[in-house]
Amino acid sequence: MSDPITPLLTPSPISPGPQSLIPDMASWREQWIRALKDPSGFWLEQTQSLLEWSAPPQLGGEGDFWSVVEEPIRWFADGELNVSVNCVDRHLMTRGDQAAIIWEADEPGEGFTWTYRQLHEEVCRAANVLSDLGVSAGDRVIIYMGMVPQAAVAMLACARIGAAHSVVFGGFSAEALRDRVIDCGARVVITQDEGRRGGRPVALKTVVDEALAPAEVEVDKVLVFKRAKAETPWIEGRDVDWATACSAVSAEHTPQSFGAEHPLFILYTSGSTGRPKGLMHTSGGYLTYTTYTHRAVFDLREGDVYGCVADVGWITGHSYIVYGPLSNGTTTVMFESTPLYPDASRYWSLVERHKVNIFYTAPTAIRALAALGDEWVNNHDLSSLRVLGTVGEPINPEAWEWYYHVVGRGKCALVDTWWQTETGGISLSPLAGVTPTQPGAATLPLPGIQPILVNPEGHEIHGAGEGRLCLNMPWPGQARTVWGDHERFVKTYFNDFPGRYFTGDGCRRDVEGHHWITGRVDDVLNVAGHRMGTAEFEAALITDDVVAEAAVVGFPHPVKGQGVCAYLVLAQNESSHGALEESLLKRLQSVVRTRIGVHAKLDRVISIPGLPKTRSGKVMRRILRKVAEGETQALGDVSTLADSAVVEAIIKAATEG
Ligand code: WT7
Repeated sequence: MSDPITPLLTPSPISPGPQSLIPDMASWREQWIRALKDPSGFWLEQTQSLLEWSAPPQLGGEGDFWSVVEEPIRWFADGELNVSVNCVDRHLMTRGDQAAIIWEADEPGEGFTWTYRQLHEEVCRAANVLSDLGVSAGDRVIIYMGMVPQAAVAMLACARIGAAHSVVFGGFSAEALRDRVIDCGARVVITQDEGRRGGRPVALKTVVDEALAPAEVEVDKVLVFKRAKAETPWIEGRDVDWATACSAVSAEHTPQSFGAEHPLFILYTSGSTGRPKGLMHTSGGYLTYTTYTHRAVFDLREGDVYGCVADVGWITGHSYIVYGPLSNGTTTVMFESTPLYPDASRYWSLVERHKVNIFYTAPTAIRALAALGDEWVNNHDLSSLRVLGTVGEPINPEAWEWYYHVVGRGKCALVDTWWQTETGGISLSPLAGVTPTQPGAATLPLPGIQPILVNPEGHEIHGAGEGRLCLNMPWPGQARTVWGDHERFVKTYFNDFPGRYFTGDGCRRDVEGHHWITGRVDDVLNVAGHRMGTAEFEAALITDDVVAEAAVVGFPHPVKGQGVCAYLVLAQNESSHGALEESLLKRLQSVVRTRIGVHAKLDRVISIPGLPKTRSGKVMRRILRKVAEGETQALGDVSTLADSAVVEAIIKAATEG
């Protein structure tokens, strides 16, 4: 029987380039099976051909998803390398004068380009400055910056001296930033005076000042890149001016090598508790995996201009703006602005001016732009484009078709890449030029990735079906642990389905064996490609005295993918329920902005008389989700509720609110 909802497979409209790692489906199959049978052999071979090791590894992968309970997985543990040497120095002989970073500043035309030679000098100077500030191997450095090339320099300079960076997205609030500074024990913070976005200033240094104000935050130095030349309060003895410091040190820096498992970075991400976790990635395996996948998925070619318009504050920016592209010696674009500034053609004017060959963005941006009409795209020469990518959330078929036909003019390969902060790099995706695609399918696993679907009891679903997506064997790019809390790492990812890594996503597999991600099955929200926990919103909301109880759920949103709906039980439980009065709503919006950041917004707030709880006190979120989706009839089994009358009241409040 054929699968009725699966659209036809479209062959890739491009042919793979001469440097293709996986030139056809037969090679994909052959390599996938090889990596399954002999992962160590497969990845040792890849890393030896892709990276420059000062001490090449003999060891491949060590540990499995049972032993991870005791100690982290390791890859290439006897090898030594320097990540920044791989991303910069090793290209100097062959491509010193080639563009490494094209900076597309907020105001079109105000950016600049750095060659690999210039990037090398910047990284060396910054590494010397950090060393002078007392940063050494094993230390942690927080980076709180916007999309300026100096952010990439800061990351590479940390890597060069063996300090782990933790980039905090520039939209996070002072409180969120402070939590991260404390959690990772950073003694140095790198920031900017101000950022620029959509013609407006973005406060960065003042947020850092506020985050570091309490005495318990022990940060010695704040390195400030003056991007906007804005007036900034200055703390003598703590604050250091980036440009002055960099000009006072040598432009040479002799790098040291570090073990493959040396920490490269910590990146905080949201889960189902109120406290974000710092996922730790290490050096050799991560760089191998990002270099390999960047090349294989996008069919990377010599001379390509590659533009990923994500932010370095998220994993996409780490893996596919900085590490993967620079390790591959590509020209990578850093985009400071928004898709709508100064108008809705910004992406396409960027593509035209820089002759971008590979363009990578998120479905939410595609949906927002598609809604504004085709003229914005059609006015630009996009003939340089060869590959289009999406990431971050499921892409609906309409948005896929628009991207493919209007932006790609039916001539570009479109890759829907599924992965996570935890996986380090792309895990399920079509390969440009190779894999036949369907709108909305992340299709097939990369070599080294073994996806399996399980039912809630943990039984594997074979063949076509739908279930929870687990990955069944280790791969080099995966996060090794949660910083300072390996138990939490194990509990989050390896407890529900022992022996397997549980992704938190639901997935359908069709008769072709293609994978369709259906979205999170846990309490993680994906709003406009931003990952946030419902528990983080709830923890923020109950800090306001007026809120007695809060439950937050996601609901389908036409542009953002998911919207945020908060159900509140107010302290003075009023008789009228439904929408909140304007002033209270404003206050609660500001509470979540202060606790989380500018990207945290409540789309709907509904006051209700009580939460739907079971007799044991557990909130039945399923009911809240259904009601937020507009469902009032098929709410499923409510017999275990302590007070089933509350459901009627919730439906009434939601329809009136
Ligand atoms: C979650 C991970 C990976 C970089 C950006 C997000 C969702 C990601 C897809 C896709 C459907 C996707 C998943 C995943 N997701 N890519 N192509 N199709 N869903 O990284 O913040 O760690 O979020 O994003 O739900 O678990 P992240």
